[in-house]
Amino acid sequence: MLDRFNRDIYYLRISVTDRCNLRCTYCMPEKGICLKSHDDILSYEEIEDIVRTAVKLGFSKFRLTGGEPLIRKGIVGLVERLAKIEGVKTLAMTTNGLLLSKYAKELKSAGLSRLNISLDTLQPERYKEITRGGILADALAGIKAAQEAGFTKTKLNAVIVDSFNDDEKDNFKKFAQKNEMKVRFIKKMDLKSGDYYEVEGGEGGNCSICNRLRVTADSKIRSCLFSDNEIDLRKEGIETGLKKAILCKPEKGHKSLKREMIQIGG
Ligand code: 5AD
Ligand code: SF4
Repeated sequence: MLDRFNRDIYYLRISVTDRCNLRCTYCMPEKGICLKSHDDILSYEEIEDIVRTAVKLGFSKFRLTGGEPLIRKGIVGLVERLAKIEGVKTLAMTTNGLLLSKYAKELKSAGLSRLNISLDTLQPERYKEITRGGILADALAGIKAAQEAGFTKTKLNAVIVDSFNDDEKDNFKKFAQKNEMKVRFIKKMDLKSGDYYEVEGGEGGNCSICNRLRVTADSKIRSCLFSDNEIDLRKEGIETGLKKAILCKPEKGHKSLKREMIQIGG
């Protein structure tokens, strides 16, 4: 469906949880976030309904995000249900990769099309620092498992923080090439001050071609990462909510004060 600025909106990012097994510094505050209760979080039935309705409105590309999507119980079953829906051309997932050693094979057989793996450094000490305690070897094992499971065109998302890891870009390029992945450099964004950037090697951050909406784990639809405007899918109904979100999608983003990145899914 076209929005007011003639952009075809066909890509829906769905956050399935606001929890994560890492605590990346740029994604969540040190003290953590106020987690939603189970009742607030979309059920798998609701997510399936959202995808079916979105397909009717012309959406064809879907991405599951978080928090970390793989920590939600039964996630493989959800992938299986969504992948079967006629009209779902691409069903992707953005993950930090830690649980791919466990799930990559099952995700592949469930019909997941593609993976984006978030990895911001190839140095164990830095990984520990940026993720507040994570172990790099676990993420690397996840990447390997994804390859072995037969995932191709996997993208590596590296958030670049000036004078922290900007010296690793060449290493990342080499690593990606060796592993037949594409690396995308995402300059660290700040929702509250409205700092956003185009993604190097990707389409994000370019408002004029933005084709996406986001659904938060607590059932709010956001038409722009950098706007606080949200529509409650439970109150409005899915179809009306999606249509409204498309029609109120701003020409470009400004800032967003209400949520942390982890509550939106990037
Ligand atoms: N700036 C840029 N990218 C971010 N992500 C999370 N927080 C930020 C931020 N502040 C990215 C993650 C992941 C995706 C879901 O969003 O690295 O790749
Ligand atoms: Fe978790 Fe990804 Fe946020 Fe890191 S960036 S805390 S891995 S959701």
